[in-house]
Amino acid sequence: MHARQEEIEGVLEHLLPGATASPARLHEAMRYAVLGGGKRVRPLLAYAGGEAAGAERSRVARVAAAVEMVHAYSLVHDDLPCMDDDVLRRGRATCHVAYDEATALLVGDALQSLAFQVLVEEPLCERAADQLHMVLLLAGAIGSRGMAGGQAIDLASTGREVTLPELENMHIRKTGELIRASVLLGARCGCLQHGEALESLDRFAKCAGLAFQVVDDVLDADSDSATLGKTAGKDARQNKSTYVSLLGISQARQFAAELREQALQALNGFGDEANRLRQLIDFIVLRRH
Ligand code: IPE
Ligand code: IPE
Ligand code: MG
Ligand code: MG
Ligand code: MG
Repeated sequence: MHARQEEIEGVLEHLLPGATASPARLHEAMRYAVLGGGKRVRPLLAYAGGEAAGAERSRVARVAAAVEMVHAYSLVHDDLPCMDDDVLRRGRATCHVAYDEATALLVGDALQSLAFQVLVEEPLCERAADQLHMVLLLAGAIGSRGMAGGQAIDLASTGREVTLPELENMHIRKTGELIRASVLLGARCGCLQHGEALESLDRFAKCAGLAFQVVDDVLDADSDSATLGKTAGKDARQNKSTYVSLLGISQARQFAAELREQALQALNGFGDEANRLRQLIDFIVLRRH
């Protein structure tokens, strides 16, 4: 995992504009937001999805970089004063604190656009139509019906009692969809464009995506800022609707464990080629940060 994280760092470093290229302040802030931190779970899932589908690694590298750029953009915007108003991210000042709010806003805009550029500027599939489908998949995952929509629901749910199905819907959108897309985009660089195997990976990815946010909620309540590299305990302070606020810590952990079981079951038809995915669902559910 460590070796792969280093590889991802190199790919991102290479694809991001240089810090001195004009407009230098924006480019420097983009690099600040993306490089040198984070668990890189989405890129790791893209590589693992690619491995399960027999994809070429150099192609998956682009997908891995694209999903991490989108993720980094989402964190920069999530931390803004008009959203979660956070000052600590990945163990250092959030982008808008290190730079300024306007720059942070533009960092998000530019990273989102760069992600799509990275996804289309080189062939990733044998057929161009399949690559177009990948673009569609990412766009759907992060738009108003996906991540951005989930964030809107998050804001609208703050300080309000929500039902469990409402909470699940919010988590699937704000976090689950991008994680799902990470696995599927990795797999789509291989020979898997449709069929039963891709559907199984999709079932795995949906469970992994929801589990990821459930565990994020648990860690917010159950860990400390030094371990997390972001401010702990803020969900309760900000009256966020989370799995912990609805179910409590131990039931939320139990739910994550059930999702892990379902995710592993979805991989039953695969052999060793899906081992990285199996390791990653363990990491997602058992992680401490
Ligand atoms: C945090 O994501 C935000 C959520 C979507 C829950 P990560 O826990 O993957 O953050 P990094 O990338 O490791 O910093
Ligand atoms: C973030 O969820 C989801 C997205 C960034 C899309 P959170 O608000 O729970 O993430 P953290 O806890 O700040 O990392
Ligand atoms: Mg948030
Ligand atoms: Mg937040
Ligand atoms: Mg959180």
